Amino acid sequence: MRDRVRTAVLISGRGSNLRALAEAARMPDFPAQIVLVISNRADSPGLEIAQGFGIPAKVVPHAEFDSREDFDAAIDAALREADVSLVCEAGFMRIHSEWFVKRWEGRLINIHPSLLPAFPGIRVHRQALQAGVKVSGCTVHFIVPELDSGPIISQAAVPVLPDDTPETLAGRVLAEEHKLYPEALRLVAGGQVKLENRRAIFEARLESDAAEFRGDLP
Ligand code: GRF
Repeated sequence: MRDRVRTAVLISGRGSNLRALAEAARMPDFPAQIVLVISNRADSPGLEIAQGFGIPAKVVPHAEFDSREDFDAAIDAALREADVSLVCEAGFMRIHSEWFVKRWEGRLINIHPSLLPAFPGIRVHRQALQAGVKVSGCTVHFIVPELDSGPIISQAAVPVLPDDTPETLAGRVLAEEHKLYPEALRLVAGGQVKLENRRAIFEARLESDAAEFRGDLP
């Protein structure tokens, strides 16, 4: 098997998606290895999860930097120092500067707890309940400079039940996040999906286009 893709996870809090990614990456055939966790908060419970998996973790406290650019420069330096090729954001509550997103374009992914493009931003489950949707879910997407609007890699849906609260809905969505994110990371690290011209292009599609071009039978 070729070298596994050196991957970092950026967190701000609980770290349950970090746990799901780290568990998946324990599998010998998984195409990514988690080599670094970065938190912008020293009190993130996710840092203990990193420690439990033996993954090096670094705190880069955003409050210590004068600007978003300086903060992102410190993150960028830590990623480069660890020779990281792919970055997963998992509950990372900072918005990046445009240069950072461009520098990591196609190698920077995020999970969001709604079926984007519905309900970007924060208080997502409250937004969903207020809108009265009957289905919600989660999305893994490439990060682009505009918040929560990058090309979609994968989604999972859950029902919204009549007596749901933001908490009960969040729990149902989170269980799907823990399955979806490792599968999405597998696709990206395995080269089965790529960001091209601001679109997510899937290998299966590339293959079928090629077959059509060659005139292969289905
Ligand atoms: C998840 O719901 C994720 O979709 C959102 O923030 C939450 C992070 O949870 N971006 P955790 O820290 O992974 O437990």
